[in-house]
Amino acid sequence: MVQVTPFLLLLSLALVAPGLSAKKCVLTGTWTNDLGSNMTIEAVNGLGNFAGTYHTAVTATTNKIQRSPLQGSQHHVNQKSQPTFGFTVNWSFSDSVTVFTGQCFVDETGREVLKTMWLLRSWVNDLKDDWKATRVGINIFHRLRSQRE
Ligand SMILES: *[C@@H]1O[C@H](CO)[C@@H](O)[C@H](O)[C@H]1NC(C)=O
Ligand SMILES: *[C@@H]1O[C@H](CO)[C@@H](O)[C@H](O)[C@H]1NC(C)=O
Repeated sequence: MVQVTPFLLLLSLALVAPGLSAKKCVLTGTWTNDLGSNMTIEAVNGLGNFAGTYHTAVTATTNKIQRSPLQGSQHHVNQKSQPTFGFTVNWSFSDSVTVFTGQCFVDETGREVLKTMWLLRSWVNDLKDDWKATRVGINIFHRLRSQRE
């Protein structure tokens, strides 16, 4: 009788552990990043394409921030559980465009995380200002679990 408990424990671990490691990272939903910017990604279609909205907490301009549309693609081949993706944000309150590229991971605690890098292209008046028109950065997103944004 004494040996039954450890056996059951091992059995339950064996049943649960593969379930945890097989958890998929899903892009659809609302995310918040290390700057406090939020984005909502709509359903990813059969081709891996998706749309959404980006609500930035920061801007390189002096314009009033507005929610802006985004369009992207997820790499869908083999239905990988931690897919790579990219999207473009067409800022609705400035003449700038940002492209993001990243991967959707499940961390060791089972939490989804988006590790991304971005390039922000700002509009400049003159070819001579081209050299300073592109910024680069890193953002880390987690799923936003509070109220709808
Ligand atoms: C992001 O969402 C959080 C929680 O709803 C909110 O407190 C915050 O103001 C939002 N940030 C932006 C830039 O909208
Ligand atoms: C991009 O944003 C501009 C400014 O809001 C808008 O005129 C244009 O239609 C947008 N294009 C797309 C594809 O969303």
